[in-house]
Amino acid sequence: MMKRFLCFLCNNNHNGFFPLIIILGFLLLGVAGEISGGGAGGGAERSYGMISWDDLRVDVSWRQGMSSGEGLENGTRIIVVDKNGSGDSTTVQGAVDMVPHNNKQRVKICILPGIYREKVYIPITKPYISLIGNKKRVTDTVITWNDKASDKDINGVELGTYRTATVAIDSDYFCATGITFENTIVAKPGDKGRQAVALRITGDKAMFYRVKFLGGQDTLLDDMGTHYFYQCHIQGSVDFIFGTARSLYEQCVITSTAESFGAIAAHHRVSPTDDTGFSFVRSIINGSGKVLLGRAWGNYSRTIYSYCYIEDVITPLGWDDWNDPSRQRGSGANTQGWVPWAKTFSYEEVRPFVDRKYIKGEQWLNL
Ligand SMILES: *[C@@H]1O[C@H](CO)[C@@H](O)[C@H](O)[C@H]1NC(C)=O
Ligand SMILES: *[C@@H]1O[C@H](CO)[C@@H](O)[C@H](O)[C@H]1NC(C)=O
Ligand SMILES: *[C@@H]1O[C@H](CO)[C@@H](O)[C@H](O)[C@H]1NC(C)=O
Ligand SMILES: *[C@@H]1O[C@H](CO)[C@@H](O)[C@H](O)[C@H]1NC(C)=O
Repeated sequence: MMKRFLCFLCNNNHNGFFPLIIILGFLLLGVAGEISGGGAGGGAERSYGMISWDDLRVDVSWRQGMSSGEGLENGTRIIVVDKNGSGDSTTVQGAVDMVPHNNKQRVKICILPGIYREKVYIPITKPYISLIGNKKRVTDTVITWNDKASDKDINGVELGTYRTATVAIDSDYFCATGITFENTIVAKPGDKGRQAVALRITGDKAMFYRVKFLGGQDTLLDDMGTHYFYQCHIQGSVDFIFGTARSLYEQCVITSTAESFGAIAAHHRVSPTDDTGFSFVRSIINGSGKVLLGRAWGNYSRTIYSYCYIEDVITPLGWDDWNDPSRQRGSGANTQGWVPWAKTFSYEEVRPFVDRKYIKGEQWLNL
């Protein structure tokens, strides 16, 4: 399998879909290495307007010998989910239900290993929830379900893509680590109604660290808000990262399971003044291919890949305009068979998208 190390950028910043490409080359290999998270985190001061490493961690010593009874750790409430019945809840939803509405401080829901077959919903009234598994054994704790868009609800109405999510989060300051979120529905090319979301994040200011998202078509609905995906693994076939959010995907692994057709990102941006877009940085793209890098789901869709390691899984065209030629305005260099509206970008132009400043991290991430 031919491997390419490419850095490029697709950004339709003013006149409709206007993808741009940069090939910055291998000088960036040096920074692509693993950065071990879980750094300092620091003092006793708690700032609930920020997400810190402490919000993604439960002390192991606290867990030892502790199996039931809701606890406190450094003043932070911890709820233990154990499907075998030795925790505070046997289901994840049961633990979410224990968090009060209008919650004002961090609550850590610690999920012990197991396969949790359930749908989970976190309402907007419950901010500051952490879902914590073991970040070194992400596949040991799985939340899984199998709704698809054509399924009917109890009133006989089709669910539609949005309502298929195995886990759906409407609240702000959510974070998760060490968990696999899954929707087991597989979509073959041409199948109708098999969109099946593993996780939908609609709340603002969310962080995902060492989390896996597994699905087929429409795996991750990165719906609305500002989000940080760090060292995550996202797998799917068609439009498997999609939505209207402003998100940074850093050091992620993006795996295509497509057979004959597929697309990684389908970003939705309808106005040139929207500050949204998906930025993939220092990530690995691999799998069975062949997929498009992105489809323009909206007149001003914005998807950026920089410093990524891309295996040979991308269809020659690279991008798709969703059958609306107005989304591909702009002219530029053709790169290895890509659509001719792809274009070179300078380092200065790509710079606003490549780190946490892009998601205004200084305002809500204390890492
Ligand atoms: C709890 O507080 C101690 C002492 O300040 C600190 O070392 C530890 O990291 C904290 N644990 C968590 C999970 O916040
Ligand atoms: C739950 O029970 C199963 C079967 O006895 C066991 O393998 C597993 O380790 C248990 N899980 C936890 C979290 O204790
Ligand atoms: C994709 O890359 C990741 C990280 O290197 C690796 O663990 C995984 O096995 C790869 N998957 C495929 C299908 O190549
Ligand atoms: C997108 O662009 C097309 C063609 O220019 C236009 O007809 C359509 O109204 C636009 N859609 C939106 C939502 O602005």
